[in-house]
Amino acid sequence: MKLIFATNNDNKVKEFRSLLGDRFEIITLKEAGIDIDIPEPHDTLEANAREKSTTIHRMTGLSCFGEDTGLEIDALHGAPGVLSARYAGETKLAADNIAKVLQEMEGKTNRSAQFRTVISLILNGEEYQFEGVSRGHITTTVHGDKGFGYDPIFVPEGETRAFAEMDLAEKNQYSHRARAFRQFVDFLQSAKV
Ligand code: IMP
Repeated sequence: MKLIFATNNDNKVKEFRSLLGDRFEIITLKEAGIDIDIPEPHDTLEANAREKSTTIHRMTGLSCFGEDTGLEIDALHGAPGVLSARYAGETKLAADNIAKVLQEMEGKTNRSAQFRTVISLILNGEEYQFEGVSRGHITTTVHGDKGFGYDPIFVPEGETRAFAEMDLAEKNQYSHRARAFRQFVDFLQSAKV
């Protein structure tokens, strides 16, 4: 089965493909010949994920899915949350976002945080959502050079290393995206599509 993944983020495509069996094939926007940057105008991950999947569904009429992820830090009342990509400005640079988080977390003793991913799937015209959460904490300095985004400052529960110090298979054991994705695949398998 072929599904269009409504993202231009190659790292996310790589993560999803690393979790996929033979039954499903992910087509990227680039591979589908679609060259747009889908906006994230809403104030929840759920609504932004839906914006991505419905935008591409309207354009193609095909089954597709979108996802939105946020880093939710307890001491910052859930920030950067839905603003995670643009936390330090519209240039969306990971290094700037990380610097801003570390600065805002200076002196904070409660460093608990979570990544949360919401996937919105449009299948035969119906929408289905799946959520995955990874609890952990924010470090005080950056660690590692793997992964992307906030990976160098997030250590998942049960680990001493940041996501950016793990290879993909290790990150997938803890990651929000992998957890949401497993539910999504279970659903597709039980829906017998
Ligand atoms: P979006 O889901 O593409 O809007 O991503 C929101 C922000 O969170 C971006 O700055 C991403 O780089 C970051 N992000 C998304 N997923 C991850 C992840 O698995 N690890 C670290 N940062 C992530």
